[in-house]
Amino acid sequence: MKKITIAIDGFSSCGKSTMAKSLAKQIGYIYIDSGAMYRAITLYCIEHNLFNDDQLDEAILSKEIDNIKVEFKINSITGTPDTYLNGQNVEAAIRSMEVSNKVSQVSAIAAVRHAMVALQEEMGKAKGIVMDGRDIGTVVFPDAELKIFVTAKPEIRAQRRLDELHSKGDTRITFDEVIENIRNRDHLDQTRKESPLKKADDAIELDNSYMTIDEQMQWLLDKFKQKTTS
Ligand code: DC
Repeated sequence: MKKITIAIDGFSSCGKSTMAKSLAKQIGYIYIDSGAMYRAITLYCIEHNLFNDDQLDEAILSKEIDNIKVEFKINSITGTPDTYLNGQNVEAAIRSMEVSNKVSQVSAIAAVRHAMVALQEEMGKAKGIVMDGRDIGTVVFPDAELKIFVTAKPEIRAQRRLDELHSKGDTRITFDEVIENIRNRDHLDQTRKESPLKKADDAIELDNSYMTIDEQMQWLLDKFKQKTTS
């Protein structure tokens, strides 16, 4: 069967990664979490003191970006790709609240986006890829055969994110902090100048507020089958 490119975009914490990862596993495609790449660059900025009083030194980051190495390697236990920053596995570190609070500033910088998009295009050259993010169907793979745009109510997304953080042992975070972060990121992601989050004209919208993961997977598999058998 011919391989296609699948772009899954949408708001933060609406389950894109879970869906994309699971679909890729079922159909034997490569899965790439493009948000993890922006998170890894954010972690680099934190570790290299490029934030001063929450203000990012854009000039230094734009100069250094081409020397920052972000890559994925398959984790032999989970079978899914882990994110590496300059050779270090940062899969857990990039999910912290500190990174979540700062990533929108980093991902709004043109030099960062250009470098990440170039890497993403390279990863997708051979097709057979599921990539999730914000601009995958609009900028990275505008010719993707299957484009999905996922949405869900902010309160539901906040609860899902809170459950995830709690399950990882981060129990100090409150619902209010998480929803505030989600609302801020929605606003920044949609209003930034460089590739703002928006639905591609040819993307299929999925509001998964009241769907179980199994229902979402069935919906997604149906869309995949329609595209690959038509
Ligand atoms: O999917 P996520 O929440 O892990 O993404 C983290 C941030 O990265 C998000 O706030 C917006 C940004 N991002 C982006 O600008 N473009 C992408 N393709 C993916 C993520």
